[in-house]
Amino acid sequence: MSLSRRGFLTGRVVPFSGAFIAARGMEAYQADAAQGRGGGRSMVPPGVTEIRISSNENPLGPGKAVLDAILGKFPEAGRYPFNSTPNESALTSAIAAKFKVKPENIVLGGGSQEILKNAVRAFTTPTRGLVTGAPSFENCPGIAKKLGHPIAEIKVDSAFRLDLEPMISAAKGAGLVFFNNPNNPTATVHGAKAVADFVARVRQSSPDTVILIDEAYHDYVTDPSYQSAVPLALETPNVFVTRTFSKAYGMAGMRVGYAIGRAETMKPLEKLKMPYNVSVFGIAAAIAALGGAKHIDAERERNTKVRAYTIKALDELGCKTAESQGNFLFADAGKPAKDFREACAKQGIVVGRDFPPFEKTHVRISIGTMEEMQKATAVFRSVLRPISTSTGARLGEESWR
Ligand SMILES: Cc1ncc(COP(=O)(O)O)c(C=O)c1O
Repeated sequence: MSLSRRGFLTGRVVPFSGAFIAARGMEAYQADAAQGRGGGRSMVPPGVTEIRISSNENPLGPGKAVLDAILGKFPEAGRYPFNSTPNESALTSAIAAKFKVKPENIVLGGGSQEILKNAVRAFTTPTRGLVTGAPSFENCPGIAKKLGHPIAEIKVDSAFRLDLEPMISAAKGAGLVFFNNPNNPTATVHGAKAVADFVARVRQSSPDTVILIDEAYHDYVTDPSYQSAVPLALETPNVFVTRTFSKAYGMAGMRVGYAIGRAETMKPLEKLKMPYNVSVFGIAAAIAALGGAKHIDAERERNTKVRAYTIKALDELGCKTAESQGNFLFADAGKPAKDFREACAKQGIVVGRDFPPFEKTHVRISIGTMEEMQKATAVFRSVLRPISTSTGARLGEESWR
């Protein structure tokens, strides 16, 4: 099969036959349905058009400059990332230049998840555990659990924000605090002052504890009280920030993330970094993406508009959402996430997984395009509203909110 540049960009390259995909779709659907797996794409019945609003991705993907950069790297696919042009040092330098820091302040990750994983490996031990929110992004506690290191999961407050006072208490003697701002899955943020106070208090009561501030959704925030913690990390020992190209930059499939902080804080992460963890495609794509600040502003604006539309539609269904500062919503569906998810999937809408301790009531919905969210909210309406019968009886009354 020849892979034309034009076909690639217009999405018209079809590597498998329709019959193969249909057969695979049926097989995957049946296997997952038989095992009662929820949340996966394959819960959508074969033949039903699927809208994937389950993984907090940018539904538009990267812009043209980034796609061109990726396509331009095919001739160098045979090279290692240190031996290609641009190479991984060029990406590190481009990120360093963005923040006006030195390359030793940056560690690249194969997605920011590589950094999160290595942070748990570097900074927690069987006696110095991890502190995180509940719910929050599961990567760090997942790794700590595998290592057998202790985990303190602090339930979010009544506004679904990370509950800072108990996190400060739990941080005493801990190895690592995972501070996700905005917090996935609740989408809430803490303002710059609250973050700075948190860091100062943890530093005072537990100076050896490392604080990881995950800003994966930084580019989507519209709350004026929020500011990136990058400057704070650069002036404070044992504090660092992670960022990713997977969200607003639309490059989740490229797997590029990074950590930024003081050089001495970066050293343990640098040691654990996998060699050549970002591919030649990821390097070229990320460098091109860094030149597209306007593209990110446009994506934030687009997301803000669609987010407001979706919040209003859910509100009209009696479904309250936590104050969202990301490209996703944490909504009170008033029923188990699994039931909501499966009912939506039957109509082609794929929403997020369970998020304990709120899995009996709350669902996470990523923000797709306006057209996708118009279709999705129509499905939410049918799933959340009771159906009137010809006799006037209402079905599903007990689950209506
Ligand atoms: C808070 C948070 N951090 C990190 C990640 C992982 O991003 P990456 O694709 O860079 O590994 C995610 C992905 O959903 C996330 O929600």
